[in-house]
Amino acid sequence: MKTRITELFGIQHPVIQGGMHYVGFAELAAAVSNAGGLGIITALTQGSPEALAKEIARCREMTDKPFGVNLTFLPAFSEPPYPEYIDAIISGGITAVETAGRNPEEHLPRLKEAGIKVIHKCTSVRHSLKAQSIGCDAVSVDGFECGGHPGEDDVPNMILLPRAADELDIPFVASGGQADARSLVASLALGAEGINMGTRFIATKEAPVHENVKQAILAASELDTRLVMRPLRNTERVLQNDSVDEILAIEREKGADLKITDILDQVAGVYPAIMKEGRMDAGAWSCGMVAGLVYDIPTVGELIDRIMKDADTIIRKRLEGLLAE
Ligand SMILES: Cc1cc2nc3c(=O)[nH]c(=O)nc-3n(C[C@H](O)[C@H](O)[C@H](O)COP(=O)(O)O)c2cc1C
Repeated sequence: MKTRITELFGIQHPVIQGGMHYVGFAELAAAVSNAGGLGIITALTQGSPEALAKEIARCREMTDKPFGVNLTFLPAFSEPPYPEYIDAIISGGITAVETAGRNPEEHLPRLKEAGIKVIHKCTSVRHSLKAQSIGCDAVSVDGFECGGHPGEDDVPNMILLPRAADELDIPFVASGGQADARSLVASLALGAEGINMGTRFIATKEAPVHENVKQAILAASELDTRLVMRPLRNTERVLQNDSVDEILAIEREKGADLKITDILDQVAGVYPAIMKEGRMDAGAWSCGMVAGLVYDIPTVGELIDRIMKDADTIIRKRLEGLLAE
């Protein structure tokens, strides 16, 4: 399949793996790129620019295909050294960067000068237009159903994607709720030129996380995610567990007086215990409603091949077949 996204990133299939804290290591990024998509290493998980440089080199040994790096500009409790992370990205020969969170404008000139294509993740049309105006090459439009941070507007992709198509000139991918060929074909119909998946890629053989994480996604239905940190305007969609119930109880009790320090133990620094040790109640971890559409744990190659093959069948047989002669 050829779209402006496959052309932009030099990839075979319009399928991107979104940056994921403590999931987006070289193993997953290389597997996605080797399968013809765009794999992405998550910079901040590496803890330092030096470690990111090593992770990029490690990924390079596992694939000769293009892969990208995610740079997340979230409200951090201590500001990471972003310019040094960008040094590691540039010297590592990376050609694609997924930015997310705050406006990436101050860092764009260096990325662009290095010939890097930038795709910014946005949860609204106005942020997408801003990304376009500051020179981003593409946008990842993240609907309300997404795992992670859906923003505060609560617009699902059925509305957000066609609205983005009506306003944007640069290409965009649909992010949030994407699991299979039906997601891809629907997103293309709504105006996107590819898909970005997070949760679905965790439930694959190559995802370098504890088996308990994969099984939790497999067991979850579309009813099992919760929104935490709403009162802080830093909403995160996470999988329900004991720790999340605790957060929600504290949020109800504190009301408008809630401070991040009230729930810090449940939301900060919890990913290693969850993703590496498989302690599923150790804290809140991002997960999309799409968990309800995850029925197996295939290899990344099997997943992407299935998506592309089934998309072909849906377009040529099901949709064409619906047209009256
Ligand atoms: C466990 C997990 C961790 C994530 N961490 C990040 C992150 O560090 N930075 C980021 O930009 N997005 C992060 N995301 C969001 C994904 O990149 C992607 O936008 C999102 O998962 C798409 O929604 P989906 O889960 O419905 O596919 C994370 C998502 C998950 C599930």
